[in-house]
Formats: sequence, C-alpha cells, structure tokens
Amino acid sequence: MEDNETIKSIKERRAIRDYDTERDVSDELIYKIIEAGTYAPSAENQQPWKVIVVRDKKIQKFIGQMAVDRTILLFGRATPREEIERRLSYIKSKASRERTIDILLSGERFEYIKGKPESFGAPVLLVIAIDQTHVGNSQATLRGTGGVYGWSSSRHAVIAGSMMLQNMTLAASSLGLGSCVSSVQLDHFDDVGAVAEKLEIPFPHWVPILCLTIGYPKYERTLGPPRQPAHEIAFMNKWGKPFKPEGI
Ligand SMILES: Cc1cc2nc3c(=O)[nH]c(=O)nc-3n(C[C@H](O)[C@H](O)[C@H](O)COP(=O)(O)O)c2cc1C
Repeated sequence: MEDNETIKSIKERRAIRDYDTERDVSDELIYKIIEAGTYAPSAENQQPWKVIVVRDKKIQKFIGQMAVDRTILLFGRATPREEIERRLSYIKSKASRERTIDILLSGERFEYIKGKPESFGAPVLLVIAIDQTHVGNSQATLRGTGGVYGWSSSRHAVIAGSMMLQNMTLAASSLGLGSCVSSVQLDHFDDVGAVAEKLEIPFPHWVPILCLTIGYPKYERTLGPPRQPAHEIAFMNKWGKPFKPEGI
C-alpha cells in the first residue's frame, strides 16, 4: 500500500542538529507549532503540559552547556567505543562515521542547543514541563469529560507530554522547519532542578522533561538511523507470535 501524505511526513521527519543561523523563526510559527502540540491526546484530557519558549541566548547557552557536559560524561566516559560504533554503523562513510563519533565524544554534537551561530545553533529552544503533582487535576477548569477524581498517574503526564512533543516535531517539519528533541540535559536529577530554577518553573510540581530546538535546517537531512521493520516489533495476540501480513 502506498504511503499517504501523513505517513510520508511522519517518515520524512528527521532530528535536525544544524540550523541556518541567518534565518529566525517568527513567534507566529512557534505559536502554530505549540497549538498543534495542544491537540495531542492526554489521559482524561488533562493537558498536563506547559511550554517555555526560550529565545534568551544566555539561557539557551546555559541549557546547551549542560547537554554538552552530560554528553561528555555519558558517551565520552561511560559508553564503550564499540557500542558507539555499533549504534552509528548505519553511517556507511567511514570518514563521516569517525567525525560523528568524535563530535559525540567531545559533546560538540550538542552545541546546537546553545543557539550560537558558530555552532549552527537553533534560534528557538522550547522546554516542555509536565505536571507531576496534581496530575489528576492540573487544569483549574477541566475541559474534558474526566479527571475530576484525579485518576491519572504521574506516568500519564510524561506520556501525554511526549505525545505533545511529537505533534510539535511533525508540525515543525510540515512548515519546513527542523527540530530536535533533546533530553540529555534533563536526564540527571540535578540538571532538572537547575533548568527548572533558571526558567522559574515551580519545581517539583511542574517538571521539565524535554527540550525541542526549532529552526530552519542548514542542510537537507534525509538519512536517519534505521528503523526496525514493523513485523519485528509487533506480535499477534501474544508475545513472540509473529504479526506479518501477507506480502510484507
Ligand atoms: C526522549 C528523546 C530524547 C532525545 N534526546 C536527544 C538528545 O539529548 N540530544 C539529541 O541531539 N537528540 C536527542 N533525541 C533525538 C534522537 O536521537 C533521534 O530522534 C533519533 O536518533 C532518531 O533520529 P531521527 O529523529 O532523525 O529519525 C532524543 C529523542 C527522544 C525521543
């Protein structure tokens, strides 16, 4: 079966880490993207999310530096070289692969979050925070049909926030913009607190979980890490029983 436009755009979205620093992204476009985000599903329609649009270069640099520092610790020190090579084996050119490994180990790959022109940084950084405390009642006025009794677990807020983020990445690419989800600067508990403090997020009620850089891509990027075929990850009725329609 042919892919339709929606499926094509899902498959064509790529994580963009090099931006055209000559081109800004208007607030109008950013608003459109966030608005698309708000149409994501959420448990009981709780919409347990907030988005901070960070244009302040100092704040972008602060958050970006955290990403660089954590990357050096995670990939540079804690991950064996063979594992990194295995993960990047989809890059066929040896020179490109070596270069990618180098910039990963040095943290340079995550410079784009700093928004600096010299590292092709993104003009806009979105930080997504989710409600981890009053998850069942995060809206003053509940807009959905449920939620009154606060049945949603905090896990649901993470799931909803992630779905919201995916809506935004797809909306961005449909507008010709590149984006990249990043979490490396929010993996460590200390970093989460520091980012929350910097952005004056009422932590730990609201918790920043992910960032999204947005900008016009510097290069066209079509090649992404490969996907597992659907029939290798889907089962029929029970775990381990193959789900493979005829003709696949
Ligand atoms: C939860 C999450 C965390 C991620 N963290 C980072 C990150 O910290 N830095 C980064 O550059 N990319 C990050 N990514 C982007 C992935 O590396 C990227 O989506 C993946 O390699 C697949 O590539 P593609 O999006 O081009 O298909 C993250 C993606 C997700 C969903």
